[in-house]
Amino acid sequence: MRKLTYFIACSIDGFIGDPSGDASSMYRFVDEEFLDYLKSQYPETVSTAGRLQLGIHGVRNQKFDTVIQGRASYQLALDVNITSPYAQLRELVASRTMKESPDPNVELVSGDVVNRVRELKAEESGLGIWLCGGSQLAGELLDEIDELVIKTYPLVYGSGMPMFGSDFADTEFMLDSVAAFDNGVLVRTYSRKR
Ligand SMILES: NC(=O)c1ccc[n+]([C@@H]2O[C@H](COP(=O)([O-])OP(=O)(O)OC[C@H]3O[C@@H](n4cnc5c(N)ncnc54)[C@H](OP(=O)(O)O)[C@@H]3O)[C@@H](O)[C@H]2O)c1
Repeated sequence: MRKLTYFIACSIDGFIGDPSGDASSMYRFVDEEFLDYLKSQYPETVSTAGRLQLGIHGVRNQKFDTVIQGRASYQLALDVNITSPYAQLRELVASRTMKESPDPNVELVSGDVVNRVRELKAEESGLGIWLCGGSQLAGELLDEIDELVIKTYPLVYGSGMPMFGSDFADTEFMLDSVAAFDNGVLVRTYSRKR
């Protein structure tokens, strides 16, 4: 079985964006040192447009070959006329309202999203599945998450969009590694304790 990894940016107090989900205040921490880390360790998580700008368009995927996101997260790309924000990956979007995929690289999941993720996990591949977000989809897929990669930015929001839009549940993870950067960013990797 391959892994479902929730690779996500959040504040110190565990929010993935402001109350509307806007995460743009985190972008200022993507400085040269941290960007070099992302480019070498997680290049496929940089948007296709960003990869072009950075000159890493042809770089091989390191951790993931598939991404799944909720429609509200995907909407941010659609709003700027991008239908395949992560063209270097196979893309799935969970939605009950979209009737037709706007892009041949994007598969819509309108039925049982947990079951679709289980099917993806059962596929043979050396690379994993990136759960991109947002909060609602991550809450629904919490039981399927095998790994967390949490990019924590040195910001306290006080309130905002939580990492998981789900009911209270005590779910244990084991810390695998911590990478610390000069600007205060931490990347913590946890495995699910089953
Ligand atoms: N900090 C970060 O790294 C990060 C990463 C990603 C996203 N975000 C933020 O997260 C925000 C969006 O999060 P969100 O929680 O509002 O929404 P979301 O999880 O991205 O998307 C929710 C939508 O997904 C669809 N959906 C959810 N469960 C489904 C199911 N079981 N079956 C079919 N469709 C399903 C529904 O779409 P329909 O309404 O079409 O049915 C639902 O409205 C954005 O503002 C974005 O900025 C932050």
